[in-house]
Amino acid sequence: MKTYHICTFGCQMNVNDSQWLCRALDRRGYEASDLATSSLILVNTCSVREKPEQKVRQYVERIFWETSKKRSVLVVILGCVAKQLGERCFSFSPQVRFVCGPDHIGEIPDRVAELLDEPEKKLVLTDDTARYPEREILGVEAPQSYVTIMQGCDKFCTYCIVPYTRGRERSRDPLAILQDCRAKLALGASEIVLLGQNVNAYGKDSPIPFTFAELLERVDALDGLQRLRYTSPHPKDMDARDIEAFGRLRTLCPSLHLPMQSGSSTVLRRMGRGYSRKDYEKLVAELKSNRPDLCLTTDIIVGFPGETEADLEETLSLMEACRFSASYSFCYSDRPGTKASTFTDKIPSSVQHERLLRVQELQDKLTDAYFTKRLGTETTVLIEHKSKRPHNGIASWEGRDPYGVRIHIPATDSQNWIGHLVSTTIVEKGKHCLFGSPSRT
Ligand code: 5AD
Ligand code: SF4
Repeated sequence: MKTYHICTFGCQMNVNDSQWLCRALDRRGYEASDLATSSLILVNTCSVREKPEQKVRQYVERIFWETSKKRSVLVVILGCVAKQLGERCFSFSPQVRFVCGPDHIGEIPDRVAELLDEPEKKLVLTDDTARYPEREILGVEAPQSYVTIMQGCDKFCTYCIVPYTRGRERSRDPLAILQDCRAKLALGASEIVLLGQNVNAYGKDSPIPFTFAELLERVDALDGLQRLRYTSPHPKDMDARDIEAFGRLRTLCPSLHLPMQSGSSTVLRRMGRGYSRKDYEKLVAELKSNRPDLCLTTDIIVGFPGETEADLEETLSLMEACRFSASYSFCYSDRPGTKASTFTDKIPSSVQHERLLRVQELQDKLTDAYFTKRLGTETTVLIEHKSKRPHNGIASWEGRDPYGVRIHIPATDSQNWIGHLVSTTIVEKGKHCLFGSPSRT
């Protein structure tokens, strides 16, 4: 029996690619297994922030020490580190024989079969394809399914490596997207999340005029769809139709991850984000006027080169003004080849960390205020899986409500609730999630 194991680092795009690979390998007769027993190990990598290369190298070395004396193993390095380092990945371990960039993931199952037949062979596939790299449509049975709508990014924010690892923006054919959505709905999905580095630039690279808003409308109209989300949009590309979609489309959830990065116009300009603080505030106001209950989350970078104390305070005040329910915050780190890595006014890491703590403390307060407001209200949870830990000693189910908030509800009977929409009253708040008691299923 051919066994495989996939380890995934990084973003939702990578998680989605790994899910596709599982399904494609299962179809070819491979069996999923753990690291200790697998003969094919795939490492799906991310290079968006610090030291990813070392992390991947350490993981691959661990595979070598744990397995090389026992059996022969083929290691595939795929994703952004593969693209960034190319054949330098072979130096990680003699077991690495395939280095596969983001545009060639669809070829992995066939290429792996060739490599297993030819133990001396090594392969590097890291070039960018001219068009969106379409691959076999394979659904995964899950209440929430991800559908990629574009590959790459053309924005070249000065800190970001993504345009170099994921290549230029290439939109996927809308008919393929709709077919993919239908396949996932047929497998029982009731929520679809459209994915891309910059989803609302969708269609701008394509000769066929088909905008992101049109795509949303077409997906919204699909039979069986209950909930639609997307991630991540770029504030600069949010047009009037994208904004008013929140007030109009039946399935579009009132939740949006809108990366702000900084609250200071000076820093935003040096980041090359293409919007000012005022533009961001105006966008949030317009979104909320279309959907007053819209729940916003964001990404924030602190300690960008040249960031002053006053800049940081502007970030904190914009966070307060937007009242994000959650945010992901990071210390700026140099990425090879980016413009910001050449800036000379770097911020010492102790200052970066102190600023990160301030951002996180404020976010904790904002999250808590949002959760307090939700106590006692009714919501509907789409159950995704059993909670990892029991709550108050009781096993529970975990899912998300339309606002994208993680909610746990007690598993009161032996029924399998995965995929069910459960009406719930919010009874308790945690640090990052809410607890509900089911009112009706
Ligand atoms: N340093 C720190 N954070 C970064 N991000 C992207 N590049 C960097 C970098 N060089 C963050 C941004 C982005 C998120 C996915 O990762 O906030 O939105
Ligand atoms: Fe990176 Fe900016 Fe593109 Fe996002 S929009 S992937 S931060 S370059």
